[in-house]
Amino acid sequence: MSLSREQMLVEMGVTPIWVLRETEAAAPTVEIREAAPVEAESRPAAPEIAPPAKPVADFALRPMTSVDTLDWPELGAQVAECRACPLCEQRKQAVLGVGDLNPDWLFIGEGPGSEEDARGEPFVGQAGKLLDNMLASLDIARGNRVYIANAVKCRPPANRTPEAAELAACGPYLERQIALLKPKIIVLLGKVAVHAVLHDDKALAALRGKRYEYAGIPVVVTYHPAYLLRNLPDKAKAWEDLLFARRLLRELATPELPF
Ligand code: URA
Repeated sequence: MSLSREQMLVEMGVTPIWVLRETEAAAPTVEIREAAPVEAESRPAAPEIAPPAKPVADFALRPMTSVDTLDWPELGAQVAECRACPLCEQRKQAVLGVGDLNPDWLFIGEGPGSEEDARGEPFVGQAGKLLDNMLASLDIARGNRVYIANAVKCRPPANRTPEAAELAACGPYLERQIALLKPKIIVLLGKVAVHAVLHDDKALAALRGKRYEYAGIPVVVTYHPAYLLRNLPDKAKAWEDLLFARRLLRELATPELPF
């Protein structure tokens, strides 16, 4: 079923709908229209009992060999075999990422959940549905001008937040992905992605609305879709963040003349 742009914005919970005027100048103007409220969704809970974990000291906490020169097939193979941190113990499979290998946009989330672990693709559960709708509201789609990755490639047991040591162990893979992809803009989805890329632990609300840089690439911070599913009013803020990111991308395409 394909949704109209208006339905997608409704799905994002941007109610009343914010419509970007195509004559967008420096700052976007908005018109306000009425739209029906949306139902709350929630990330499916994953009740499970974790087997006793091996101590973190048993792991190297870095990739087995340097990844700085790997191409995509080599990187995929190394991530699939990775045993750098305790997350490898309970994964079904590592989840590298999905999408256009020559993207404008790179979205980075936290780590695979149970559905992603089972299917080997990031953001395929409830949060993924919302992310797809966020992409659609920007007129982009998974696989077309966008790549989706996570800060850690293996599912943290019971969907817990990845530990700092696990983020550090997986960091070189994300760095290599960014170097290979050379995206025009990076959108960090939530605190964990911010920690992984910008090494900043401030509250997300304090980080939004600013342009950051990673390896010369503009970076924008917004809420994680799973958080938005639990905090519907903040969907409108996420929409503002996406418009901000799109504006930066358009500015890159048409830089201001120096006179
Ligand atoms: N949440 C994430 O951060 N990544 C996924 O792939 C799925 C849910």
